[in-house]
Amino acid sequence: MDKLIVQGQTRLKGEVTVSGSKNACLPILAACLMTNEESLIHGVPKLVDIIRLSRLMGELGVKIERDHNDPFTVRLQVEDESKYLARYDLVRQMRASICVMGPLVAKRGRALISQPGGCAIGDRPIDLHLEGLRAMGAQYRLTSGGNISLRARRLKGRELFLGGPFGSSVLATANVMSAACLAEGTTVIESAACEPEIVDLADFLNKMGAKVSGQGSPRITIEGVKRLGGAEHTVIPDRIEAGTFMIAAAMTKGEVTVRNCQPDHMMAVTANLRRIGITIEKLNSSADAPADTVLVSARRKLKPLDVTTQPYPGFPTDLQAQLLAMLCLADGNSIVTDKVFPDRFMHVAELGRMGAQLRKQGPAVVVCGVKKLVGAPVMASDLRASAALVLAGLVAEGTTEVRRVYHIDRGYQHIEEKLNALGARIERVAE
Ligand code: EPZ
Repeated sequence: MDKLIVQGQTRLKGEVTVSGSKNACLPILAACLMTNEESLIHGVPKLVDIIRLSRLMGELGVKIERDHNDPFTVRLQVEDESKYLARYDLVRQMRASICVMGPLVAKRGRALISQPGGCAIGDRPIDLHLEGLRAMGAQYRLTSGGNISLRARRLKGRELFLGGPFGSSVLATANVMSAACLAEGTTVIESAACEPEIVDLADFLNKMGAKVSGQGSPRITIEGVKRLGGAEHTVIPDRIEAGTFMIAAAMTKGEVTVRNCQPDHMMAVTANLRRIGITIEKLNSSADAPADTVLVSARRKLKPLDVTTQPYPGFPTDLQAQLLAMLCLADGNSIVTDKVFPDRFMHVAELGRMGAQLRKQGPAVVVCGVKKLVGAPVMASDLRASAALVLAGLVAEGTTEVRRVYHIDRGYQHIEEKLNALGARIERVAE
């Protein structure tokens, strides 16, 4: 296992380019199970989660390889349609493996998928995924070994409500929307997730010949078609990586140009960052081309903030830990509430080890701003909490050791390389 040794009191300056979105890639790659033609996906980041899904797709009979000319392009071609098992060893490593469920049931009429169980950010049920597919005619049952066995003849289009106790579900929307593309008749999903990653998936499905409309709104309509073809697609930039670098720039009172980001995917993020005194300027935006570059800078002490994470377009839960780390140094007391994953606070105790004054109260954390953080050995727990600890290390006095960085590598392509290019001093060492 590796750890990152982060030297503190750094000021980030320079330019960083955001990679393609992990959370757009995963369901798009899974959707390729629904065609026998080759697909070409550009902008696929080199992340552990992508490697894990590629391994699963391989076991599901899909030939998946990186293009020889472009390391961020992936070619996919189904070679064997008889496979339908997503085994425990793969699913337990990456819960998002569940995104193969809808495509498998729709195209192959069968799926045998290990229940993903929970993870560091909290309970991760899949009841909405199952309810949605059952509404379209799939039968499912729990089998020995913790697997879910699903079967279906041709799915039937239905009007269905996909909202849960925490609102919409991103991957449940992805699964049901994908499966509905091959159903007989029309499906209407009410309370669908509105995330940009769902819009990107719908755009890819339509390139495959699907008839999806309403993506980006809570009501998505899908007219089923008999078959889908291969398609070529470039995934959207990773708004969570972009937000992570914006927060890193602001925390360190630096000045960073963030390239290949889409500010219109991040309005809740930029609005809240501006509220606390961070300057964010859109560069090179023109009438016909959405800005893909922003300049982030912060000079003064940051103001406190009362923020709650919500499904898109609300503030994303995937940036909650990073924002919380920044608010530890704000000039006053902040409240951070996570309404999506109320237990997603494993980073609180670790930040406390660095001198942060935090008190968790149910789904919220009260953050009392302190003058400084002090470097310490800390433990990464989940993908985004790990990034937050690295950011805290950038501003802390002294050295911070972030252990178990395999969590970070799931969602950030060697984060230390991009941060070091901005002036950080981070070393990756084997533990
Ligand atoms: C996606 O996970 C993302 N992962 C997560 O990002 C992200 O945190 C999450 O959406 C919320 O935005 C991918 O896209 C691969 P949900 P997903 O279903 O789809 C409850 C990261 O860091 N729920 O939208 O699994 C659930 O418990 C990862 O990149 C049900 O109740 O999340 C949660 O409280 C972490 N029943 C809420 O809905 C269900 O059947 C939102 O979860 C499904 C979910």
